[in-house]
Amino acid sequence: MKFVENDVLQIENVTKTIKGKSIIKGIDFKIKAGEIFGFLGPNGAGKSTTLRMIVGLSKPTTGRITICGHSIRNNYISAMQHVGCIIENPDLYDYISGYKNLEMLAAMSKGVHHDDIMETVVNVGMENRIYDKVSTYSLGMKQRLGLAQALMHHPELLVLDEPMNGLDPQGIYMFRTLIKRLAEKEQIAVLISSHLISEVQLLCDRVAIINDGLIIKDMPIHELIPSSEISWEIVELEKGQAFLASRFNIAALIVDGRLKAVVDLKELASINAALIAAGFELKTVSSAHQSLESLFLGLTGHQKIM
Ligand SMILES: Nc1ncnc2c1ncn2[C@@H]1O[C@H](COP(=O)(O)OP(=O)(O)OP(=O)(O)O)[C@@H](O)[C@H]1O
Ligand SMILES: [Mg+2]
Repeated sequence: MKFVENDVLQIENVTKTIKGKSIIKGIDFKIKAGEIFGFLGPNGAGKSTTLRMIVGLSKPTTGRITICGHSIRNNYISAMQHVGCIIENPDLYDYISGYKNLEMLAAMSKGVHHDDIMETVVNVGMENRIYDKVSTYSLGMKQRLGLAQALMHHPELLVLDEPMNGLDPQGIYMFRTLIKRLAEKEQIAVLISSHLISEVQLLCDRVAIINDGLIIKDMPIHELIPSSEISWEIVELEKGQAFLASRFNIAALIVDGRLKAVVDLKELASINAALIAAGFELKTVSSAHQSLESLFLGLTGHQKIM
């Protein structure tokens, strides 16, 4: 197991101006070893621009990017040794096999041999097609090969720009399982931009929302669902309201023949049990989670491309 610093990636006050236009307006975030960090934002928000700076494809106008303690500006080569990435489409040669593509790339990095290549090929589920020409691959197979390219040299930081585009449900499942395993077992830090909000919710430990070049939210995924609006359909509404107030200190409202209140989900089972034990006829109980989607749309608006 390689030594890894706890903060694998640090972004400090990074800005990017292109042709006089301010694209990234001062962003900060960190990713720890083993953490899967989701980067969400509408089209044109600045996700790819940020990811391109992190993998060294473009330079920040101001600010600092540090990977495993190496500043990109001062120590580019050491910083880049710790990164694997797929930005836009993976760079693949069509007229040779997937294996040959991986072998050529392996020759450029130290200490990557046949066994490392094949281990990664099996990890991404491409062992049956790896000796076929890339020109015969589907989009999803190319994505899987791109992932193999990014992982072969065992990076500490994996940067993926919309990696699930073009994957079928099996591919998405394979991808999610693989990323979770790499983060947990090998403590890889993962930065992943995506439009698939539900996937981010299933995959990531933390999520940052970027809009118009600024990070407007950065939080652990579990904080998204701390409480939920519950509605109880019962016969004796006023009595039920008084019961919830006296027994649980919950101020429920009576709306459309139901009792409604925001409660901690951990307490819901005991509240329901108490209502039934007290003789209330509980017809239905339902909850409305605040989903990441509604949070995302609320924060970024249903906006036009600027
Ligand atoms: N080379 C460039 N020249 C001029 N403008 C650019 C350039 N690269 C990016 N931009 C602008 O920067 C903004 C952010 O683009 P970016 O590609 O980072 O967005 P994104 O969040 O990745 O969007 P998407 O979800 O569509 O991939 C956009 O307004 C885009 O037009
Ligand atoms: Mg993009």
